[in-house]
Amino acid sequence: MLKDLLIKLKLKSKILVIAGSDSSGGAGIQADIKTITSLGSYAMTAITAVTVQNTKGVKSVASISPNEIQNQITFSAQDIKPDAIKIGMLHSKLVIKKVLVSLKKLKTKKIVLDPVMVAKGGARLIDKEAVKLIKNDLIQKVSLITPNIPEAEVLTGCKIYNKEDMVFAANELIKLGAKNVLIKGGHLNARKVTDIFLNKSDFKIFTSKRYKTNNTHGTGCTLSSAITTFFSCGKSLKRACELGIKYVNLSILTNPKYGKGHGPVNHIHSIEIKKKFK
Ligand SMILES: Nc1ncnc2c1ncn2[C@@H]1O[C@H](COP(=O)(O)OP(=O)(O)OP(=O)(O)O)[C@@H](O)[C@H]1O
Ligand SMILES: [Mg+2]
Repeated sequence: MLKDLLIKLKLKSKILVIAGSDSSGGAGIQADIKTITSLGSYAMTAITAVTVQNTKGVKSVASISPNEIQNQITFSAQDIKPDAIKIGMLHSKLVIKKVLVSLKKLKTKKIVLDPVMVAKGGARLIDKEAVKLIKNDLIQKVSLITPNIPEAEVLTGCKIYNKEDMVFAANELIKLGAKNVLIKGGHLNARKVTDIFLNKSDFKIFTSKRYKTNNTHGTGCTLSSAITTFFSCGKSLKRACELGIKYVNLSILTNPKYGKGHGPVNHIHSIEIKKKFK
């Protein structure tokens, strides 16, 4: 009995997250840690920026120095070797350069990049030079990129109005050198939500129920962390995307309705809380 419990509670993998902090707790590093933990893995972090925000918007962003970001990555990872890395908000060219150098040193193969550019409330989170470097140098070095529709538009220069445009843009990203692409359809005005997975030899359209709610703060961070966790545990990227989408869908469905703006989702729906902690 106790043995069963201990097997169940064993951490499944180790994940390093490189991303920004969200003081409201719904997105960024906070969403990443909650997701990875809820799915049974161990999260380490390298914080790239500290945002002051709540569910109604971003008030300010304080950058962490590129050297400190690199130090967080290498110092943590040389001690506890990550099975996979999730990358979120990288706001400047220098930060991306330091991350590229660090990734080369670490040699971790499984890397998921969520190319965060704009916050849910509309605030721009990275500069133009950074976008260029993501496009020309970073997307080629990761296993999967997970842009939302506005990010896919910026990266490809294509306008996206429907599912067909999403597929076209995903192909353009593969042409730019991305190995696997998941374009997220949360921003599309449609009855169902569609996320499109594509690589050179495989293609899959995931269709899920769309909820009429404002409480989708951090869905992108949550999804990419969930995918990284499943991927780190040995699932294929396509299957990891499918499971990640299901996890996010249930997180939105069970959202706690906190805040007066874009409220957070419920990251812990996957956890069974033991009686003695209730
Ligand atoms: N209203 C909704 N109902 C169901 N699923 C949704 C809804 N909105 C987004 N999703 C799902 O959430 C995931 C994240 O997609 P989204 O397009 O919101 O990412 P994002 O814009 O990067 O999010 P964020 O604002 O956190 O950066 C996708 O799987 C998408 O299908
Ligand atoms: Mg996002």
